[in-house]
Amino acid sequence: MAIRKVIIAGNWKMHKTSAETRSYIKELSAVLDGVNPDSEILAAPPFTSLAVAVEEAKGTRIGIAGQNLHWEDKGAFTGEISGPMLRELGCSHVIIGHSERRQYFGETDEKVNLKIAAAMNHSLIPIFCLGESLDERESGKTFDVVKRQLLGGIGDLRPLEPKNFVIAYEPVWAIGTGRTATPEQAQEVHAFLRKELSLLLGKDFANSVRILYGGSIKPDNASTLVSCEDIDGGLIGGASLKVQDFFGIIKEGI
Ligand code: 13P
Repeated sequence: MAIRKVIIAGNWKMHKTSAETRSYIKELSAVLDGVNPDSEILAAPPFTSLAVAVEEAKGTRIGIAGQNLHWEDKGAFTGEISGPMLRELGCSHVIIGHSERRQYFGETDEKVNLKIAAAMNHSLIPIFCLGESLDERESGKTFDVVKRQLLGGIGDLRPLEPKNFVIAYEPVWAIGTGRTATPEQAQEVHAFLRKELSLLLGKDFANSVRILYGGSIKPDNASTLVSCEDIDGGLIGGASLKVQDFFGIIKEGI
């Protein structure tokens, strides 16, 4: 921690209407006054609430992220949203490869790679998610799985700028289960990812890129996680939905 700027990001998943989004962002920006300005705060509402979120977040320190995008700029892809659409709305970031996308919507490492490329082409910072399932952890495959996901997602994409790239380690067994990875378990994987990134993209990249942890982060466990050497913030699901909880994490995590 500390050598890299912390990011605390809320992934709202399929929660909140536009009206709920408006009041949430208003409330959050009001309580954020006076909190350490060195950290980055992001919210990722559903597509239908992005415009309102961007409007309410204008002039505040809250950045807005999409939760997904298609790799093509436009075309016959019913129900999909592209990079130029997110960019035009004013999004700065986009979550890519979340385990729920991989599990329920057939997202493969190859598609994740195409999506990361599309995000970068449109000046959106990817928040590239990876993580092992419970089975994979229990059968000792954690490092193989996250390495495969890391290499598959990055593929041949070069050059990558560390300030415009974010990775989120989210063990699937910790998402929405209340079963947080221990700081030791999370740190071990984060350090492994940084070592692999160093081999792939060089030391400078590996030392500068932010790697967030996600999976049952709450106000009472945020600080022990984010104080680990290689954990640079959090991607928060359930506990990001209430301003009070999210703010509690922001205060603890930075
Ligand atoms: P929870 O914080 O609800 O476990 O979700 C984590 C997550 O999936 C963030 O992307």
